[in-house]
Amino acid sequence: MASSSLCALLLAAFACHCHAAAAAAAYRRPHAIGVNYGNLGDDLPTAARSVKLLRKAHAGAVKLYNADQRILHALAGTGIPVSVMVPNDIVPSLADSRAAAREWVDNNIKRHPRVRVMYLLVGNELLSYPALAASTWGKIVPAMKNLRHALHAIGRGRVKLGTPLAMDALAASYPPSAGAFREDIAGPVMRPLLDFLNHTRSYYFVDAYPYFPWAANQKDISLDYALFEGNASSHYVDPATRLTYTNLLDQMLDACIAAMDKLGYGGVKLAISETGWPNAGDPGQAGANVRNAALYNRHLARRMHKKLGTPARPRSNMPVFVFALYNEDLKPGAGTERHWGMFYPNGTWVYQVDLTGRRTVRSYPPLPPPDGQTGKLEWCVLAGGGKPLNETAVALALNYACGQGTGTCAAIQPGGACYEPNTLDAHASYAINAYWQQFKAKGGSCYFNGLAVKTNKDPSYLSCKFPSY
Ligand SMILES: *[C@@H]1O[C@H](CO)[C@@H](O)[C@H](O)[C@H]1NC(C)=O
Ligand SMILES: *[C@@H]1O[C@H](CO)[C@@H](O)[C@H](O)[C@H]1NC(C)=O
Ligand SMILES: *[C@@H]1O[C@H](CO)[C@@H](O)[C@H](O)[C@H]1NC(C)=O
Ligand SMILES: *[C@@H]1O[C@H](CO)[C@@H](O)[C@H](O)[C@H]1NC(C)=O
Repeated sequence: MASSSLCALLLAAFACHCHAAAAAAAYRRPHAIGVNYGNLGDDLPTAARSVKLLRKAHAGAVKLYNADQRILHALAGTGIPVSVMVPNDIVPSLADSRAAAREWVDNNIKRHPRVRVMYLLVGNELLSYPALAASTWGKIVPAMKNLRHALHAIGRGRVKLGTPLAMDALAASYPPSAGAFREDIAGPVMRPLLDFLNHTRSYYFVDAYPYFPWAANQKDISLDYALFEGNASSHYVDPATRLTYTNLLDQMLDACIAAMDKLGYGGVKLAISETGWPNAGDPGQAGANVRNAALYNRHLARRMHKKLGTPARPRSNMPVFVFALYNEDLKPGAGTERHWGMFYPNGTWVYQVDLTGRRTVRSYPPLPPPDGQTGKLEWCVLAGGGKPLNETAVALALNYACGQGTGTCAAIQPGGACYEPNTLDAHASYAINAYWQQFKAKGGSCYFNGLAVKTNKDPSYLSCKFPSY
């Protein structure tokens, strides 16, 4: 109260700036990660409510996929740093005409003097669309140059220009030291882009999602490693650099650095324009659940708070934007696409997360179990209860189960983790569960002529793990 009335008295003529400065001072979250505010939903909160939710998550910044006037209006005076985006389809026209670039900047940035614009991103994942190669790829840097000129002209020369690229800009990313840009873009597109970014001290903006490589290769990549929870046994040493990787995101980021380095621009800073983890998906889309999404984003915030950087660039400070503010119901594609939000469309948390990263990951309330569908893991085992079982029937069940699927009974072969105790009942329990886990989604039942029952109690013992999905 006191400060705002003083403000009003002394600076009445500059009330607007005074207000913006006060709000900016009140909104200082230097190392908090930012949030992508996508709005491909027909049920999403208003811009004003969304700003409240950004504050609730302690977001360090917000990134838009456009220059939506209502959203910019709601952000005015909040002090929240904002990243604005030029849509893909007008990039060529802004490259071809300085006047067009000037007009775009006037309409979308100059018009909002109280919005704290930090980044102006030119297009979104443009290099992932071969159909735009001829019309647009060569126009990215010329558009940036015209926009930069226009920003200087309105006194906003500190706004950094960039263009978010997906990981498919790289032809190789493993090991990280092998990172290299695709041949079709390295010379003609990346070199001039990196030169511009280097010259203007801007960032290489990358959309990096460990979820996708993990989901595509669960045999070789442990979930813990993708979720920043890996232990020494899952760490990876790059054979060329001898750098040790403790998580998949760092690997992906350092692959980008290696690719830039090969073109002579290893010094360009990195920013993560998108990252995150889906909180749900279609049945059978492994790993897409609330628990994993919460762990990923909490660890991410924590790492940025600690300014860990990556093995190739330790202790570096990186702007980061998590994807996304909301679950967006109008996004096409697999079920995971509509489930990246920290908030449901009704404004309640999907899971709590403090984007300042000041909170330790273990200090949050317990998370639901990994199986997001039922909320409970289930196994299907031999019915016990003490009554003697018909051995012939149990043996038939065991043989049947083991004959289905692939590798169903590998663990109960001699030397397998579940071979001991080597009894008919123990082996049948394992086999029945292994069968059911593989076939329940396709209609397989947990019955076996009444020999089998479902349980929520994990029957795993010692190193013998009964699967549950
Ligand atoms: C990148 O920018 C730095 C600082 O302006 C400059 O010294 C360096 O030569 C640039 N690198 C390239 C490859 O142009
Ligand atoms: C280390 O992580 C791996 C993979 O996540 C896990 O299987 C193993 O049990 C862990 N080891 C220890 C000692 O925690
Ligand atoms: C908000 O939506 C979620 C998901 O549909 C639901 O679980 C939750 O109960 C809703 N909360 C309120 C307060 O309506
Ligand atoms: C045991 O199960 C077998 C195979 O299902 C069946 O033929 C037999 O009659 C059963 N024996 C008893 C005592 O129920």
